[in-house]
Amino acid sequence: MNVLRSIDDIRSQVRQWRQAGLRVGVVPTMGALHKGHLSLVEAALLGCDRVVATIFVNPLQFGPADDFRIYPRDEATDARKLDEKGCHALFAPSEAEMFPDGITALKDFKTVVHVSQLTEGLCGAFRPGHFDGVTTIVAKLFGIVQPDAAYFGEKDYQQLLVIRRMCRDLNIPVEVVPVPTVRESDGLAMSSRNQYLSPEERHIAPLLYQTLRGVAERLTAGDDKLDSTLSNARRALLDAGFTKVDYITAADVETLEPLESLKRLKSGARVFAAAWLGQTRLIDNVPAT
Ligand code: PAJ
Repeated sequence: MNVLRSIDDIRSQVRQWRQAGLRVGVVPTMGALHKGHLSLVEAALLGCDRVVATIFVNPLQFGPADDFRIYPRDEATDARKLDEKGCHALFAPSEAEMFPDGITALKDFKTVVHVSQLTEGLCGAFRPGHFDGVTTIVAKLFGIVQPDAAYFGEKDYQQLLVIRRMCRDLNIPVEVVPVPTVRESDGLAMSSRNQYLSPEERHIAPLLYQTLRGVAERLTAGDDKLDSTLSNARRALLDAGFTKVDYITAADVETLEPLESLKRLKSGARVFAAAWLGQTRLIDNVPAT
């Protein structure tokens, strides 16, 4: 696998492939790769002739109190995992390559990509500026790599919809392909942040998924007391040892509007949650229809 660090190098590699008629897929990541990330690479290998993974811990999407400084970084191990999967290239730029003006804070950027509405609820309500940081860096990565398709995990369902909307609204010719969430055997969604969990927290963590499943099952069965189902679910998480629940909500799968009642269900629903175990914020979501 080729490891490329400069924008010129990855561009000319991809241009060469596309001129040869090959379909190129990209898998954007922040590294600390686990089986969830690698399933995106697998999906990309099935759908494309050449696959580029990117690793860049993007300072624009972290808030001041977030874990940017301590975010796990291990490029050598990541590169080995990608190589073993059969990934064709890794684009791992430095901060200076991505931000030649030395600007690493969104507020100082002259151009920011903002998707409205879809970014307002769920994680957007608790992480101000986060999705602007994501869309701005992903727009840059798409402009740099110029892939035919890009693979994103349903684990970050809101992110997936936001990026799809960005491509549609800005006529960015990249097909955004969703990939199902990969879980540990006890149901916990794989995440680079799971390694922050203490053994006790790790023991409690799968309850997030179980609780989401419980709410989804009730919704599917035609629950008409969604409000109390959701407040009971929140209570159960706190009782089990979650320290804070940012949200647990059932929402429309396209618009992310919260479902007040099943009557508003248009195109299917998912149940979404973000909850804290000590210093670690976990997110997850499951389909409800
Ligand atoms: P990161 O958290 O590294 O995730 C990279 C991709 O892996 C995302 O599309 C995410 O949804 C997917 N992913 C993570 N855990 C997964 C799991 N358990 N199953 C399936 N897919 C999973 O998301 C980001 O990085 C960044 O915001 C990024 C898009 C790279 C922009 O900086």
